[in-house]
Amino acid sequence: MASYYAKISTTKLMLLFLTIVVSLQSFSVSSFEYHVGGSKGWVVPPANDTKVYNDWASENRFQIGDTVRFRYRKDSVMQVSEEDYKKCNSTHPTYFSNTGNTVYKLDHPGPFYFISGVSGHCEKGQRMIIKVMEPEDEYPSQHHGDSAPKKSAGSRSALVSFFGASSIALLQLLMLYTASSVLY
Ligand SMILES: *[C@@H]1O[C@H](CO)[C@@H](O)[C@H](O)[C@H]1NC(C)=O
Ligand SMILES: *[C@@H]1O[C@H](CO)[C@@H](O)[C@H](O)[C@H]1NC(C)=O
Repeated sequence: MASYYAKISTTKLMLLFLTIVVSLQSFSVSSFEYHVGGSKGWVVPPANDTKVYNDWASENRFQIGDTVRFRYRKDSVMQVSEEDYKKCNSTHPTYFSNTGNTVYKLDHPGPFYFISGVSGHCEKGQRMIIKVMEPEDEYPSQHHGDSAPKKSAGSRSALVSFFGASSIALLQLLMLYTASSVLY
């Protein structure tokens, strides 16, 4: 009798352990918040450094679920089409914000085109292409590449939120359900 119960509780413990491991792995899938322009923020770049935002953006590995934060004064952020990006055409943005502190979520793979909506600023280099990787391009060991960017154009902030909440939550619910039904 005693050994029978001992066996059961070992199985239960193992399942509980598995549940915890799976939960932890889920939570390690994280998203990052990038600060555009670092301490300078989203400003007209100096004349000798007009590509500063794209140089910075190309050094980072943006993933779905990551966010970019723009801080600025008397300026704005627009997301536009590729064509409008090239022409600095701000007449019909797909996204617009002028709150001074804009957090934009990169919710799909591929390029995102950002420009300043203030007349003349985009032409002076206040624009940026962010390329978000396809999910299959992601390798855990290379998450977000080579740490800090070389230029002052941007900085990586700390881990801010968890990514893929819905699918992870579902998995965890399933695991918790399995564990509780065995345990109780
Ligand atoms: C741009 O010019 C400033 C002032 O002359 C200088 O300090 C800075 O290093 C230059 N930046 C680049 C990227 O050449
Ligand atoms: C910007 O786009 C609009 C709509 O496509 C067009 O009417 C306008 O001429 C464009 N402006 C410039 C400066 O290209």
